[in-house]
Amino acid sequence: MDCNKKIGIFDSGIGGFSILSEIMRKVSSVEIDYISDDAFYPYGEKADSEVIKRSQMITGILLNRGCSLIVVACNSATAVAIASLRGEYPKIPFVGVEPYINVLNHNNQFPGIKKVAVITTELTGNSAKFKTLKQKIDPANSIQHVSMPKLASIVEEILQSGLNQALKTELTGELEPLKSLHLSHLILGCTHYPLIASLIEAELNLSTVSPGPYVANRVMDILATSGDKDCSSFSYLSTSSMNWERRGADYLNSLLRYSLQTEPDSANQQNH
Ligand code: DGL
Repeated sequence: MDCNKKIGIFDSGIGGFSILSEIMRKVSSVEIDYISDDAFYPYGEKADSEVIKRSQMITGILLNRGCSLIVVACNSATAVAIASLRGEYPKIPFVGVEPYINVLNHNNQFPGIKKVAVITTELTGNSAKFKTLKQKIDPANSIQHVSMPKLASIVEEILQSGLNQALKTELTGELEPLKSLHLSHLILGCTHYPLIASLIEAELNLSTVSPGPYVANRVMDILATSGDKDCSSFSYLSTSSMNWERRGADYLNSLLRYSLQTEPDSANQQNH
């Protein structure tokens, strides 16, 4: 294990914390830099070319700070920008996030699985990468896709202000189109959504599927490290303030108050 490894993680906002928390649970003795590109939030409503430009800029900052592996902790940026990042930096490993469509091929891991949908931002849903993945893994189109225009922003507000009545009503309204589908499982195709997985499950009476554990496993494979669990803080940059700060487990735990706790080794499979 190389203790000098530094991982860079970014998202348009706090959504990437659903990935960061899984990585911190599993990966030990590495330094982590997290960038929240909140000056440019939300990615999910921007043009592909703009998200590519921001992703390149953020990646440049992380590489200048010595990161040797970049986690694109955002489905939207993965969908439109990861190919160009890999093209620009062929020697750097990039780990992206995709919705875990492959549930039907691993149904023994998802008890009671019957009817499934996948939710994403509009940008991810319209991307060629998502459409190709969906067609490849679910050619019969048995998993319905629904784009959620406001859900990521509702998550940001819930985590900033707490779940007040106005936000509860907004959340119920946003999730309303999913109610009539009578789903057993919902695949969360935006890294913001797992941060309120417990609220989504309670509202829709189903189980959610989040990609965080699979992404953390991939990072562990690349770093060839394992879980001593001594990775308890990280450096944080918000692009609206441009000041690096040290953040610890307390901060992370407060953001995870509406998420679900996962078993560290419950997820070993990936889409590919
Ligand atoms: N967290 C981002 C994702 O996974 C979406 C939020 C946004 O629209 O910026 O797609």
